Amino acid sequence: MSPAAGELAADDQDLAQLRLLLRSRAGLELPAEKAYLVRSRLAGLLAELEAGSLGELLAAVAHGRDERLAQRVVEALTTNETSWFRDGAPFEALRTVVLPELVRRSAQTGRLAIWSAACSTGQELYSIAMLLDPARFLLPQGTVELVGTDLHTALVARAASGRYSAAEVARGLPPELLARYFRPVEGGFEVVPALRAITRFFPLNLAGPWPPLPRFDLVLLRNVLIYLAPEVQQAVVAKAAAQLAPGGLLLLGAAELLLGAASGLRPRLVGGVTFYERVDG
Ligand SMILES: C[S@@+](CC[C@H](N)C(=O)[O-])C[C@H]1O[C@@H](n2cnc3c(N)ncnc32)[C@H](O)[C@@H]1O
Repeated sequence: MSPAAGELAADDQDLAQLRLLLRSRAGLELPAEKAYLVRSRLAGLLAELEAGSLGELLAAVAHGRDERLAQRVVEALTTNETSWFRDGAPFEALRTVVLPELVRRSAQTGRLAIWSAACSTGQELYSIAMLLDPARFLLPQGTVELVGTDLHTALVARAASGRYSAAEVARGLPPELLARYFRPVEGGFEVVPALRAITRFFPLNLAGPWPPLPRFDLVLLRNVLIYLAPEVQQAVVAKAAAQLAPGGLLLLGAAELLLGAASGLRPRLVGGVTFYERVDG
């Protein structure tokens, strides 16, 4: 066997081991066409550990001396792309129809709970918070609970800080909302306390056991299913559906469709955007 072929075989083995790690820890798939990303995404971790190759890094994970290492490898391979009011149309549907409806319903139930279930750095949940500003809707204190969770612990901590750089706020945040809901701080902007008070962020691996959660009126499960193995997608959707209050809505990403997997959910078109409504008890 030529040295080049030998190296390739070793790489393939390492990739197979990495795939197992991602799948078992987070339900994530690493398609062949994305394998090229591995080297660049793990470059920082390799440098920090002075590991010369993926094989060395995986051996360190297998040794288990550092409990956090496997989690850090998984985190490094997640795609965390997000922005304010991402994709436009879903937030227009939320602003004009869905949120006013949920606010009206909250007058009866006394609560309104929304979950951004793969929140990355939090822009999705704060976008909702701005649309649902309790002061504008005259919602009594304690009515609104906005929950943001993600597998990636450092991103969750960043989301909870409510701090964003100038480059980050430039990605889809209208200037009037920046002026109203952020204050300048060193290095960027910080979400105002009134909105941070209605948000709560904590780590949650959708592919693992879920902690006790409230029933939600709206669950945003956007741009995460595409990274999960098909059977994990199905299980996550079923659990998210079970977490909805009766009549609650599930919103997926633009490239994500429910293919017959979710019993008890009925598609509902709002402004050209498909929400899935919980129709059973
Ligand atoms: C592309 S971002 C989507 C962010 C946001 N929902 C949006 O649409 O803009 C995908 C997020 O899913 C998270 N993620 C991946 N696998 C996960 C899992 N098993 N459990 C929870 N979050 C996961 C990643 O850490 C990443 O932050």
